[in-house]
Amino acid sequence: MRGILLAGGTGSRLGRLTRITNKHLLPVYNRSMIEWSVEAMVAAGIDELLIVTGGERVGDFLRMLGDGSSLGLENLSYAVQERPGGIAEALGLGERFAKGGPIVVMLADNIFEHSFKPTIDGFRQRPVGCRLILSKMDDPTHLSHLGVPEMDEEGRIVRIIEKPVQPPSHYAVTGVYCYEPSVFDVIKTLEPSGRGELEITDVNNHFIAGGIVAYDVQQGFWGDAGESIEAYQAVGEFVARNGANKA
Ligand code: G1P
Repeated sequence: MRGILLAGGTGSRLGRLTRITNKHLLPVYNRSMIEWSVEAMVAAGIDELLIVTGGERVGDFLRMLGDGSSLGLENLSYAVQERPGGIAEALGLGERFAKGGPIVVMLADNIFEHSFKPTIDGFRQRPVGCRLILSKMDDPTHLSHLGVPEMDEEGRIVRIIEKPVQPPSHYAVTGVYCYEPSVFDVIKTLEPSGRGELEITDVNNHFIAGGIVAYDVQQGFWGDAGESIEAYQAVGEFVARNGANKA
């Protein structure tokens, strides 16, 4: 299965840490953030990977990861997002790489205690629409910085609200998304959001409105290391104590 790892953006929420480097090259415990996410994709069964990142630091990614063979990849490609235009715009750069097949997408600042391989295996069996991974958040203050699903009484996702002032559930939408090939046509129909970006949540809401969404609830720790300085530090401390990407 092919995967796309999104590692662009300005990383402005990490303040001075990202003044001279890309967020995904910062350390999380004893490795760079990007290495943890590549390992997560490999553990989930991805063997061909595209990394989309900003132009300025692409050489550093190449020096860090090379051709990906030492990390267990058959094939590692790179694409450059000229200016930060949002997660969905970055994903659109992967259309040729996807070769008309289904695709697994991951935001490279997400760290999982346990592998999300079961979700990818589930999508492989039924590669239609989109399949999401939710994480129940014990501390609801995170939710207003993330995408949060609103659910009906049967537990179906009705819509996702991005950065809600009043979160409609206790679940966060994590940054791993499985898509059928039509995702690239959906991206072409999007309008920029209030922050001037093409939003991945709008892509997901398109599939939700069409009734072709599935989801799994991930067990164990999940964190978005780019959410804030506090979250970055908490993710690093968690990984130092417990590791990541375990079976
Ligand atoms: C993005 C998504 C959000 C999701 C989060 C997970 O937010 O827009 O829905 O919950 O990633 O990491 P961002 O980190 O771009 O603010």
